[in-house]
Amino acid sequence: MAKDLCFDPTAYTTKHCTLAGSTVRYRAFENIVYCAAPVDPIQKLNLYVPEDYYDGARHNGYTLHTAPIFVPNTVGGYLPGPADCPGLDRFGRPNAAFRALEHGYIVVCIGVRGRTSGHQNTEFFEGSKTIAEQQETGHSVGKAPAFIVDLKAGIRWLRKNRDSIPGDTEKLITNGTSAGGALSALAGTSGNSPLYAAELAAIGAADERDDVFAVSCYCPIHNLENADAAYEWMFCGHDHFSTIRMSVQDGKIVQKGTTGVQTEQQKQISRELKALFPAYLNGLDLKAADGTPLTLNEDGTGSFLDALKAEVMCAAQKELDTHHTAQALSGIAVAGSEVEQQSYLTIENGKVVALDWEGFVTAITRMKTAPAFDALDMNSPENEEFGTEEIQRQHFTAYGQAHDTAGGTLAAPEIIAKMNPLTFIGNADTAPYWRIRHGAYDRDTALAIPYILQTVLQNKGYKVDFAIPWGLPHSGDYDLNELFSWIDGLCQ
Ligand code: DHB
Repeated sequence: MAKDLCFDPTAYTTKHCTLAGSTVRYRAFENIVYCAAPVDPIQKLNLYVPEDYYDGARHNGYTLHTAPIFVPNTVGGYLPGPADCPGLDRFGRPNAAFRALEHGYIVVCIGVRGRTSGHQNTEFFEGSKTIAEQQETGHSVGKAPAFIVDLKAGIRWLRKNRDSIPGDTEKLITNGTSAGGALSALAGTSGNSPLYAAELAAIGAADERDDVFAVSCYCPIHNLENADAAYEWMFCGHDHFSTIRMSVQDGKIVQKGTTGVQTEQQKQISRELKALFPAYLNGLDLKAADGTPLTLNEDGTGSFLDALKAEVMCAAQKELDTHHTAQALSGIAVAGSEVEQQSYLTIENGKVVALDWEGFVTAITRMKTAPAFDALDMNSPENEEFGTEEIQRQHFTAYGQAHDTAGGTLAAPEIIAKMNPLTFIGNADTAPYWRIRHGAYDRDTALAIPYILQTVLQNKGYKVDFAIPWGLPHSGDYDLNELFSWIDGLCQ
C-alpha cells in the first residue's frame, strides 16, 4: 500500500469495454488507497483514462492534461458506495463511468463508506450494489459523515498528485443519484470547510484542497433534518401510500410494491410536521430570480408553492413540446406520465396554463408514511446513517426525538450540520456550477427539497441549471448527453 499517497503512473492495465456497439480502450489504475490510515477496504479509488490520449489524441478538444475529471459515486440508500468501473448500470444501460470515458473525460471513481460499513451487508436497497469487499469488523466505521469525508479524501489525493495524474484537477465534476446526489451536493457546497478537519486527519487524508468545480445531482436525498416537514407540507391529506422497492435478483431488477393508507396516528403526525414547514422555509429568506420573496403562509400556500408549481408546469410544457423525450431517454416507462392525459393539468392551444396541485400530488402518490425520514422507531435508512460507532441508529430531528418509541437518542447537532449541503453554501468554497435534476414523479423526498437547494444556491450567486423532468421517478443518469454538453459548455 502506497502510504505516501503518491500516484504510480506505471501501475495500470490496458482494458477495453464494448457496450451498445461502442468500444472504449482505457488505462485502468485501480484499487488505489487514497488515505494513509484507512479503516475500511472500500476506501480505494479507480482512475480511468482514454488510452488514445497517450498517443496525442484529442476528444472534444480535450487532451491528456486538459480533460475534465468526472467523479461519479455509487452511493444509494446511504449504504457503502464502492468505486465503480466502466460497465452496465443496474438498468442495463452503459454506466456513467463508461459514457464519460467514451466522451473523453478522465474518470475517477472514489469508494466511500456507508451506514453498514464494518458489518456484513445483506440488505438490498434501491441504488445499492453488491459490496464484495465489505469486511466484518464488528463495529460501525461508516456512520455520518463518513461518506463525505471519504469523497473529500479521494479528491485531496487527486490534488496531491495534480502534476502526475492525467486530467485537469481544477475541473473536477462530481456526480451522484439520490443519497449519492446528496453526497455530490455536499462535496459541492463544502469545499475546504474546516468542519471536517478532524475526520479527514483521522483517516490520514492528504493535506490539500477538496473544493470542486461543478456538481451534478440527480434527486439528492438531502437536508434530512427538514425533509419530514417538507414531505408533509406536500403530502398531508394524501394518505394512500405506495412503496416500490427495487432489488436485484439474478442480475435483473425486481420491483416489489406495498400499498396502504396512513393510520390515524400517522395522519396526526403528518399535520404536526406540515405545520413546522412554513417557519423553516420563511427563515431561509428565499427570493425568486426577479427578487420577489418566496414565502409560505401558515396553511402552506404562498409564493414558494406558486413558484414550485410553475416549475412543474414548465416541465409538463417541455414534455408537450418535445414529445416525451425525457421518458424515452430514461428507458424507464412511467405509467400515466403523458401530459395530455393528466386531468390536473389545464392545456389550452398547446400551452399548459394551470396545474391543480392537490390533483398532481394525489396522482404521484405518497411513498412514505409520516414521518418519512426520522422514523419514530428508528427503522429508516437515515436513522442508521446517523448512528455512531457504538450506537446503531439515532434520531436526527427534534420531532423524532420528542416522539421516539424505541428509546433512541438524538445525533449530535454538529454531525447533522455536516450532513446538510445547506450548512455550507457561501460559508465554504462552494462550487460555482450546479446541475440539479429531480423527476416530477419522484416521491422519495418532497419537491420542495431540491427546489430549496437550487434557490439558495442561486440567491447566493452560484450558477444553477435546475429542472424537474416530466414523468420521471426516483432515478438518475438518464440524460448523460445533456449533462456532458453542460460540462463541455463550462470547460471547453
Ligand atoms: C435513497 C432513497 C430514499 O428514499 C431514501 O430515503 C434515502 C436514499 C436512495 O435511493 O439512495
